[in-house]
Amino acid sequence: MVRTLDSIETVGVVGAGTMGSGIAQVAAQAGYDVVMRDIKEAFVEDGFDTIEESLDRFVSKEKLSEAEAEATRDRIAGTTDLADLADCDVVVEAAVEDMEIKRDIFADLDEAVPEDVVLATNTSTLSITTIAAATDREERVVGLHFMNPVPVMKGVEVVVGEKTDGEVTEFAHALAEDLGKETWESDDKPGFVTNRILMPWLNEGIRAYDEGVASKEDVDKGMKLGTNVPMGPLELADHIGLDICLDASQTLHEELGDRYKPAYLLKRKVDAGDLGKKTGQGFYEY
Ligand code: 3HC
Repeated sequence: MVRTLDSIETVGVVGAGTMGSGIAQVAAQAGYDVVMRDIKEAFVEDGFDTIEESLDRFVSKEKLSEAEAEATRDRIAGTTDLADLADCDVVVEAAVEDMEIKRDIFADLDEAVPEDVVLATNTSTLSITTIAAATDREERVVGLHFMNPVPVMKGVEVVVGEKTDGEVTEFAHALAEDLGKETWESDDKPGFVTNRILMPWLNEGIRAYDEGVASKEDVDKGMKLGTNVPMGPLELADHIGLDICLDASQTLHEELGDRYKPAYLLKRKVDAGDLGKKTGQGFYEY
């Protein structure tokens, strides 16, 4: 049994940091009541400050009215007690990227919230399957990987664990869409789609600078103007947080080893003369 989206009224968020507060904000903006929990009162307060700043930006850009911002604030309650999530209809965990901490949180959530409630994790690289195994509801655990800054970024990656039920996957897509996001789906493989590809890109940008290929400004400018991304690798790494990048990179390195050699398929395509758009065939057909 999985709750349907139309029966969801209250969203629980575990973690009030950059990601957790962003998730709490978008859920409240979408009209849900939100309970945002962190381990210390000061962290909860910081989460509210982040939300306040973001709402102020939206109001000053006339993307949100004062009344909508006010209503959003009013829908979010803060707590340090996990038991206060007992009445939530779905919970999204966005605590630190530490497997043991996440497994402890999921074991506690499993006790705290009714058994038909879906527990989602915002993990960026850790295994959904391993996190889910800390509960007795592995089929109702799913990855809901938001992008930073959550209030602005359109995309959410739905990550399907080994035991995740198909209905739960559908529910995760529907919930994210209801929060105004667009989704794609990834199997529970290290880094999923986004970080598996993004982290080597960031690391290569950092190495290019470190090895004197170009100044940091020119590495960023080259990638921005050369490939039409909003931020170059060094800027983006700074935006994400270098600690988070390092954590994610270490997980990928442990799980996947040396990913920096040219991909075998790339060489095979070139040998076959499939050079992309100009030959009518690359990875896609034109
Ligand atoms: N809350 C509300 N609004 C915000 C905001 C926030 N936190 N941050 C930015 N905005 C709004 C601004 O109001 C502005 O609106 P406008 O277009 O009407 O002027 C708009 O977003 C752009 O903001 P700024 O002009 O201040 O700054 P930029 O133009 O540089 O845009 C950005 C900021 C949206 C962050 C853009 O630079 C960008 O898209 N960068 C790439 C971000 C990215 O790739 N994120 C994903 C990282 S990977 C990840 O998160 C996965 C994790 O697991 C590691």
